[in-house]
Amino acid sequence: MEAPSAASAQRSYTYEEYKETADWLLAKTKQRPKVAIICGSGLGGLADLLDNKTVFDYKDIPRFPTSTVAGHGGHLVFGSLQGCECVCMKGRFHFYEGYDMHTVAYPVRVFFLLGVKTLIVTNAAGGINDTYNVGDIMLIKDHINMPGFAGHNPLCGHNDERFGPRFPCISDAYDCELRTLAKKTAKEEGCNDFLKEGVYCMLAGPTYETIAECRVLQQLGADAVGMSTVPEVLVARHCGCVSWVCPSSPIRL
Ligand SMILES: *[C@@H]1O[C@H](CO)[C@@H](O)[C@H](O)[C@H]1NC(C)=O
Ligand SMILES: *[C@@H]1O[C@H](CO)[C@@H](O)[C@H](O)[C@H]1NC(C)=O
Repeated sequence: MEAPSAASAQRSYTYEEYKETADWLLAKTKQRPKVAIICGSGLGGLADLLDNKTVFDYKDIPRFPTSTVAGHGGHLVFGSLQGCECVCMKGRFHFYEGYDMHTVAYPVRVFFLLGVKTLIVTNAAGGINDTYNVGDIMLIKDHINMPGFAGHNPLCGHNDERFGPRFPCISDAYDCELRTLAKKTAKEEGCNDFLKEGVYCMLAGPTYETIAECRVLQQLGADAVGMSTVPEVLVARHCGCVSWVCPSSPIRL
């Protein structure tokens, strides 16, 4: 029962491995969340707002990877947010840490096996659209998967149909209904002025992009750029979850 480490993680996982993690969690908590939230950099505070929390340290969860980045905690927090049962990842896994894409997205299949139907993904990203201001929130409406262009896709390798199809359609990865709800809510809360909607581009990192690279990405139609989120969204969509994302962004799984 060795937890995946960056060095030993160059492989995909079996259904039974994900299930072992899920079954362990199901045995340790009575909570049955339908919503999972991945808290991006600096956004882990959301997990602290949950009521009736059950907290697991990543290192205690069988087969769960552990986060190596400062500013990212390593806790899975079950609880309820405004009466809605959810599970929050306080700290996520990144490709630049040395994890392969299967490991980066490992928790998403565990969530699926827990019965989660909606995944909300948040991150802190760099705006490259000239009309954006520092501190804006962008709802992700689509993405550009740069590591995918280079062959790094979490769905590469053996496909287990119990999770989803070999060739999943990904053109509607970011649920329209949830984005509409987010915009409606932003309006009601007076956040309209800083809520944007755009295309997120994932780069592998850990270096930030050069000025020349930013220009290229702008020309490709990206509005924001970051080093996460896309692997989790692909795996969520693959298993039929609805994803919703903003930097600080949501996806429905
Ligand atoms: C807290 O969680 C437990 C199960 O872990 C549940 O039995 C209890 O009803 C919950 N309490 C509240 C106030 O939600
Ligand atoms: C930038 O954002 C604005 C407003 O959201 C949008 O109309 C525009 O197409 C985006 N892209 C560029 C390259 O300006």
